[in-house]
Amino acid sequence: MSEKDFIAANHTSSIENGNFQWSAPSNIAIVKYWGKKENQIPANPSISFTLNNCKTNTKLSFSKKENDGNFSFDLLFEGKPKEDFKPKINKFLERIEKYCPYLKNYHFTIDTENTFPHSSGIASSASGMAALSMNIMSLEKALNPEMTEDYFNQKASFLARLGSGSACRSVKGSVVVWGNHAEIEGSSDLFGVEFPSKIHDNFNTYQDTILLVDKGEKQVSSTVGHDLMHHHPFAEQRFDQAHRNLSAIKTILENGDLEEFIKITESEALTLHAMMMTSMPYFILMKPNTLEIINPIWKFRNDTKIPVCFTLDAGANVHVLYPENVRESVLQFIKAELVGYCQNGQYICDVIGTGALKI
Ligand code: PMV
Repeated sequence: MSEKDFIAANHTSSIENGNFQWSAPSNIAIVKYWGKKENQIPANPSISFTLNNCKTNTKLSFSKKENDGNFSFDLLFEGKPKEDFKPKINKFLERIEKYCPYLKNYHFTIDTENTFPHSSGIASSASGMAALSMNIMSLEKALNPEMTEDYFNQKASFLARLGSGSACRSVKGSVVVWGNHAEIEGSSDLFGVEFPSKIHDNFNTYQDTILLVDKGEKQVSSTVGHDLMHHHPFAEQRFDQAHRNLSAIKTILENGDLEEFIKITESEALTLHAMMMTSMPYFILMKPNTLEIINPIWKFRNDTKIPVCFTLDAGANVHVLYPENVRESVLQFIKAELVGYCQNGQYICDVIGTGALKI
């Protein structure tokens, strides 16, 4: 598939008004995307676990209007108008217009809410852009009813990527790869694909308990972060390493080797932060409590041999990852030793999910 395959065909049906509703989950990368080229093309491939409970629910209502050359939409967040989200949505619509020329024929109301607290420090851009893209594809399918399900999902992921890169991994599948990789059949820089091999049972119902260390606004937006990889002294080595780590994770997901999974996952998290610490300007996005959490995780793992590990996104929160069969012991450990380092003792229990759902 190339970009031009995503330009909508002339529609065969017409539709005056209606609404659709989709929920899309957040995802947590195991091999991280950090650094991009023009048009949201990733500098390296990434792979993520789709979450189940951290989601955005979005309802898109539409009614036909004259095409006056402008986008027209109202934006509601938790039922109330939210003007400050509008520029981001407008930019997204501008980016996807070439592929969805019908957008200016409608007035939209986008009514959106997250299942996780807005100020939790959990990025809603992945789930939000994925949920909106699914809705837009529902409209496109109403205009072109012969569209296949595969095309629907691929284009939804393609559009979501133009909103926020990692959002393309929130459309379909439990484990999703985004970015060309020699060993992953069908992988593409343009959209996310479901991990193509059978995943070992060890990773079924894998748990992600998100410890909320810092719920504030992100210190560095991901746009600024990705840009820091241009002229970064270690960029090329990092991009090569991501390819190698993805090869290793592929084997691990197939054979269920949790010890190796832990090594790659934690190394990826720390490498992401190392890239930020060694860019110019440089940033430390961990907080003291991030380390206060990581150290006991290492000690607990060492003492009990329970295969629990952590990953981080571009912030201070800690994602604690472990198989379901050790859930009781890990949650007990979290409550006894880690909750004290979370802001207001807050954490979110999540589990690997399957992707976006039509409501
Ligand atoms: O999708 P963006 O542009 O917000 O970038 C996300 C980057 C990381 O979350 C740090 C890594 C990833 O692969 O999700």
